[in-house]
Amino acid sequence: MYDAAPSLAEAPRLRVLGIETSCDETGIAVYDSRDGLLGQALHSQIALHRDYGGVVPELASRDHIARVLPLVDEVLGQARLELRELDAIAYTRGPGLAGALLVGAGVAAALAMAADLPLLGVHHLEGHLLSPLLAQPELDFPFVALLVSGGHTMLLQASELGRYELLGETVDDAAGEAFDKSAKLLGLGYPGGPELARLAASGRAGVFDLPRPKLHSEDLDFSFAGLKTAVLTRVRQLGEDAPGQARADLAAATQEAITDVLAAKAAAALRRSGLRTLVVAGGVGANLRLREKLDAACAALGARVHYPPLQWCTDNGPMIAYAACRRLQAGLARASRDYAFDIQPRWDLSELGAGPAPGGTSD
Ligand code: KG4
Ligand code: ZN
Repeated sequence: MYDAAPSLAEAPRLRVLGIETSCDETGIAVYDSRDGLLGQALHSQIALHRDYGGVVPELASRDHIARVLPLVDEVLGQARLELRELDAIAYTRGPGLAGALLVGAGVAAALAMAADLPLLGVHHLEGHLLSPLLAQPELDFPFVALLVSGGHTMLLQASELGRYELLGETVDDAAGEAFDKSAKLLGLGYPGGPELARLAASGRAGVFDLPRPKLHSEDLDFSFAGLKTAVLTRVRQLGEDAPGQARADLAAATQEAITDVLAAKAAAALRRSGLRTLVVAGGVGANLRLREKLDAACAALGARVHYPPLQWCTDNGPMIAYAACRRLQAGLARASRDYAFDIQPRWDLSELGAGPAPGGTSD
């Protein structure tokens, strides 16, 4: 346990450079604990991976190598800061693609060493989890978090910074994966989530009835693998020359099924925890139909729901710089001058704890 963290504005000023390279977005930002975000830049690799229908890890790593330093320069220019004027450099330590993580970690370590700055590895999912707080500084713990990304679907009780109790998670595919795989079956491009949402907008409700796995289960877990199989069956029934309207109807049914389960379980988590604040994070949090349903479910419960701005739902630099800043300010993490490469491609959020993060000695 630790004492309640002072608000960022009261604690000593910290300016942190954040480097995010866990998957297919190179995100860079400088966050200032007093003045907020001073600069940010993002390069998305969507065009690079589109022809392959998914992220090709080796291509992702190579592209991060090409992008990181120019983006760092751009962001420091926006912030009107020299590297050595910063207080720390933070990078995404995991979870994510090993090669992609290594690029961010390596560059962060090299920059920190060159400028004699402390270095800190950040948990990617804590970054997502805190991104709504970045946009709304008055928002505070405790809250229930619905974390819905391409690789994770979790409900968490966030009691305080670093203390995240898992309430439920997917037993197979993540919600984003369900969007992406269903989109692929419908012949849509990568990334599938936004494409499927776009097609669903012209789809009619109720034409297809898809399963809502675990909707009424006692637990707060999710399962989306069966839904993908059901979509596959419908796609096969429709055949190669399925009319556009039928594909749109099926896209709408898929989106309805996924978002129904997410909203119902999030509401159940609020009821069970007794908390009245829901925070939504991760790429699927950009889905507008999901937002409509969560708004309605929370209104019915007298709860408030908070989303990050759309550009911070998916991977980005600000969430890494901000998470690092919060941890450093609260004394929950020590930035290190060890400069060893340190990534953790598989990293459970509950392992994070509210103690100092592993990795090197304190400075
Ligand atoms: O958080 P994120 O950028 O990356 C991970 O850490 O996984 O999430 C990416 C996921 C992808 O599966 C993508 O299809 C999904 O978020 N996504 C959406 C939407 N925008 C992104 N899914 C549904 N509707 C959207 N509008
Ligand atoms: Zn992510």
